[in-house]
Amino acid sequence: MTRIGWIGVGRMGAALVARLIAAGHAVTVYNRTRAKAEAVSGATVAGAIADLAGFDVVFTSLPDSPRFAEVAGALLDAGGCRVLVDTSTAAPDASQRVRERAAAAGTALLAAPVSGNPGAVAAGDATLVVSGPREAFDEVCGLLGALGRAVTYVGEGESARVAKLCHNIVLGVLTQALAEVTVMAEKAGIPRSAFLGFRNDSVLGSTFTRYKTPALVGLGFTPSFTTELLRKDFDLGLAAARALAAPVPLAALTHRLIQAAVATGHGEEDFAALLVEQARAAGLDRKPEGRAVRPGRVRGRGARAAGSGGGLERRTRPRRGRRVPGRPGRAGRAPGICRPPVRGMRSRGPVSTAGCDRGRVTTGPRAPSAVSPQAVVVAEGVASGDGGEE
Ligand SMILES: NC(=O)c1ccc[n+]([C@@H]2O[C@H](COP(=O)([O-])OP(=O)(O)OC[C@H]3O[C@@H](n4cnc5c(N)ncnc54)[C@H](OP(=O)(O)O)[C@@H]3O)[C@@H](O)[C@H]2O)c1
Repeated sequence: MTRIGWIGVGRMGAALVARLIAAGHAVTVYNRTRAKAEAVSGATVAGAIADLAGFDVVFTSLPDSPRFAEVAGALLDAGGCRVLVDTSTAAPDASQRVRERAAAAGTALLAAPVSGNPGAVAAGDATLVVSGPREAFDEVCGLLGALGRAVTYVGEGESARVAKLCHNIVLGVLTQALAEVTVMAEKAGIPRSAFLGFRNDSVLGSTFTRYKTPALVGLGFTPSFTTELLRKDFDLGLAAARALAAPVPLAALTHRLIQAAVATGHGEEDFAALLVEQARAAGLDRKPEGRAVRPGRVRGRGARAAGSGGGLERRTRPRRGRRVPGRPGRAGRAPGICRPPVRGMRSRGPVSTAGCDRGRVTTGPRAPSAVSPQAVVVAEGVASGDGGEE
């Protein structure tokens, strides 16, 4: 039986390891604050990082590069493991130093950063981008597939780190843009809920904009991903862009605004708090909108579009003949029928826990071996915290 360890069970680590356990794997967990490890249902708790030395696979989920280097160093000092899989968002150069040290100790390092917040992980909707030795990837891809709905292998070395930083730059730029125009609309007298409802139903609406809507309307910033962590990712992303001589002007400007949000006390809040600083700069009193918010699409006559339409009555015509990929057709549904919004994520399709046939695993440089597409997840109207792309 494969011996699996997990180091770091914060917001993401706890959600990810729960998926491995739910898939039937025995996992030994270590966390600096022991109580968090003890809270992981079904796991064995390790007293020290060294207890995981000699394991087949050890995963890490740590806040930043220094913590990753520290933890990996302790594990390697104790003898290492066969494959080390780091799911953190970390710097390519720091990871490369760990990789070299690990290789010398006989440990293969896979960089496997995750897209999706803890809610998305729990719903099986996270995605992973992976780089490192191909043989190590082939060995653990079944485990990786248990963590989310898609795993993409992008090559050797640190390429997955760069892919994840690029991804999070878009996340920050998009959220800042959303904050700016929502405040602008509000200054024109449009309730945030109404503006965002309109936007979410447009071609520009997305799973991400829908699930962020409740925070932007209700101004509740309990973090799924903190502004501080987003700043870290921008720090790393800008450094990587500099090293690659790739101009990223929008990222640079957004970085300054994220930095300002951290400096004005939003570091531990969810990064949707960017809206608060935008409102302050616009001289706008920020008041939560009291209406219940549901960010999903509302269809049908007379549907009260709280969240999607902000309590304003909206009438929408059901779209005809529109198919969501991976879903059965909707033939037979009469136009004009009122269909309530669907809350939460729906997982479709069989999910196997064996080998590499779980999750959608795609590869870049080489064709996948013994991997088949499975487990299609369809999101329709995502409730707050249920989805997302961090
Ligand atoms: N949150 C998200 O939505 C999200 C999404 C995608 C990717 N990520 C990335 O995932 C990583 C984790 O994020 P998170 O939000 O889960 O952070 P988090 O809640 O702060 O979790 C980090 C965990 O690492 C533990 N830790 C820190 N130093 C340690 C050490 N020396 N030894 C053992 N455990 C140690 C912490 O333990 P203590 O309890 O003792 O502090 C904590 O439980 C980050 O790299 C982040 O960028 C996060």
